[in-house]
Amino acid sequence: MALDVIELSDGISAISGRNHLPGVGHLTINSFLLNGPEPTLIDTQVASEQVSFVELLGRLVDPESLRWVAITHTDADHIGNLATVLDLAPNATLVTNYTGFIKLSTHSPVDPRRVRLVRSGDEIRLGDRRVTAVRPPLYDAPETLAWFDHGSRNLFAADCFGAIEPESDRQPRSLPDCEFTDAMSWWVSIDTPWAHVVDPVKFRETVSVVEKLDPVSIRAGHLPLYVDDPETLIAGLLDSLDGDEFIGPSHQEFLSLLG
Ligand SMILES: [Fe+2]
Ligand SMILES: [Fe+2]
Repeated sequence: MALDVIELSDGISAISGRNHLPGVGHLTINSFLLNGPEPTLIDTQVASEQVSFVELLGRLVDPESLRWVAITHTDADHIGNLATVLDLAPNATLVTNYTGFIKLSTHSPVDPRRVRLVRSGDEIRLGDRRVTAVRPPLYDAPETLAWFDHGSRNLFAADCFGAIEPESDRQPRSLPDCEFTDAMSWWVSIDTPWAHVVDPVKFRETVSVVEKLDPVSIRAGHLPLYVDDPETLIAGLLDSLDGDEFIGPSHQEFLSLLG
């Protein structure tokens, strides 16, 4: 998986790659740098791309000045380079919740004096950015927090609002709406395979938490960067709940995928 820097707006950049899932499609994996007086990194990409990630991050910010590393959750595709980043950035403080902190302690312990704990609903200052931690509607790990930057009105939504693009030799620049809903459903069926059993009325309430924030842009760990429109993404998420759970290929199908 090759990583690239993609400049967004409001001093925000993505370090992004596309992981090929044989027989399924392509999964975008993003982390984000929010530049400013106190630069903030949201998630740290995958460990398999450590050299490239560290090099690209260094182009965006001097590690000495990186002040905050906010993680969405402790899955390997979000904290793959956390220990490396904290080593390179001695002035950075990790932002997570207690569950995130104790889960990290089992494989990548972080000095508690370098941790700023927050809970869903808490608002904190990260330099000149005012950021609120939010529980997103769908998640695959109990510590998950999305981050809402009030100044840019960007919501960084963790695993929620992801999509899996269909297999193709070329990277699409967009997908038609119908295909994009399918791409979101694919992701929901894989990452939260129980989503089809949730009470739709109660689920709608969790989506309204996002709507009340009134984001102008939704960015997410597994969302291609050509789409960020909240209306499209919320409609796609609600449509995705009806899909079947993903059970994956049989072993024989898997062997044939490998050729
Ligand atoms: Fe996850
Ligand atoms: Fe993820």
